[in-house]
Amino acid sequence: MTTTAPTLTAEQAGADLRAFVDASPTPFHAVAEMTRRLAAQGFSELLEVDRWALRPGDQRYVVRDGGSVVAFRVGTAPLADAGARLIGTHTDSPTFKVRPRYDVRRAGFRLVGVEPYGGLLAHTWLDRELTVAGRLALRGGELVQVVLPGAPLRLPSLAIHLDRSVRDGLVLDPQRQLVPVWGHDGADDLLEALALVAGVEHADVVGHDLVLTDSLPAAETGADGSWIAAPRLDDLGCCHSATLALLAAEPAAHTQLLVANDHEEVGSGSAEGAKGSFLADVLARLVAATGGTDPQDLHRAVARSRLVSADMAHALHPNFADRHESDHVPSLGGGPVLKLNANQSYATDAGTGGWFAARCADAGVPLQHFVTRADLPCGSTIGPLTATRLGIATVDVGSPLIGMHSCRELVSAVDVPLMVAAMTSCLSA
Ligand code: CO
Repeated sequence: MTTTAPTLTAEQAGADLRAFVDASPTPFHAVAEMTRRLAAQGFSELLEVDRWALRPGDQRYVVRDGGSVVAFRVGTAPLADAGARLIGTHTDSPTFKVRPRYDVRRAGFRLVGVEPYGGLLAHTWLDRELTVAGRLALRGGELVQVVLPGAPLRLPSLAIHLDRSVRDGLVLDPQRQLVPVWGHDGADDLLEALALVAGVEHADVVGHDLVLTDSLPAAETGADGSWIAAPRLDDLGCCHSATLALLAAEPAAHTQLLVANDHEEVGSGSAEGAKGSFLADVLARLVAATGGTDPQDLHRAVARSRLVSADMAHALHPNFADRHESDHVPSLGGGPVLKLNANQSYATDAGTGGWFAARCADAGVPLQHFVTRADLPCGSTIGPLTATRLGIATVDVGSPLIGMHSCRELVSAVDVPLMVAAMTSCLSA
């Protein structure tokens, strides 16, 4: 058993996470950033439409519909004999999605019609420097990624003088009151502006997947600058750690794999989401493309495999400490969090949780535990969904985070190299 010491300092890892988040305003950009980093270190793309032939040691990645990716390093032993070590994350975050007929006119203003995506904390989007990012579909079938530069959009608060009732709690109606302001009536058309930035003809744009995004870069914060305030850390924090871990892991007899799914925040039900066939399809093809001819090979491979489902975890908020179960209180900077739930909102059990704890111990990484209070509902992850779909032994973990689903979440850079080391240890063992 090799011990994997953290190779990055917290400062280096934190700076790298901030750069990763800044490059990833949407799932499409996150997948592009992950594959850019993988390609720079020898991974190459496989297309689902092609016939695959793979050899031991091959480093490849597959993208489905732009927002989901599976990357892997083929093991030196057949999959049916050695199985795989997998890390699963998600690429999407709560936001607002631009409607097809987005041009809303009110009281001399041009606004942008949007629909909430996922369980967002709406008030955290008020008075922020917002823009739009995503992809444009062109007449010829091409999809072009785009980010509108600057901070052209805004969701302004209403003055307290015009509604004193906010002192009893702010209630926002998303249909009427969460419509971002784009300009006065004479302003340019939003899609025309995006086409110009993307270098395409406006007339060629036949569809779009566009979301609101905070335009300000990720920031260092806290007295010693070791915390990171940034959008989309759930779950780009784990996407980042998993990418670094896959690149750092030494080749092994077993296959090492990273899956990052879109659509987790809206239930994972899509072709590229965790309820869809993406990972199952890639695993079946991996077995076949490495010479597995026996119909039992896929099932033998899955039975020898383990999945680390990695999604950010609730760290203690000092102003709301009573919201945590008092004996299970993860703290910022305290290392990876093992998540357990008696009702299977998390997939962790004795075997998989113990395995993860042992891998952390191998790597010299401290481990924290999270359970929800008995009187509060529990969130969930891709872990139980993937375990249910594939029948794969799964453990749910995450790095600690304060303010989950805020427009700007808070993590500690100290946790980044600890999670990378834990994941690298899991991919290696
Ligand atoms: Co998440």
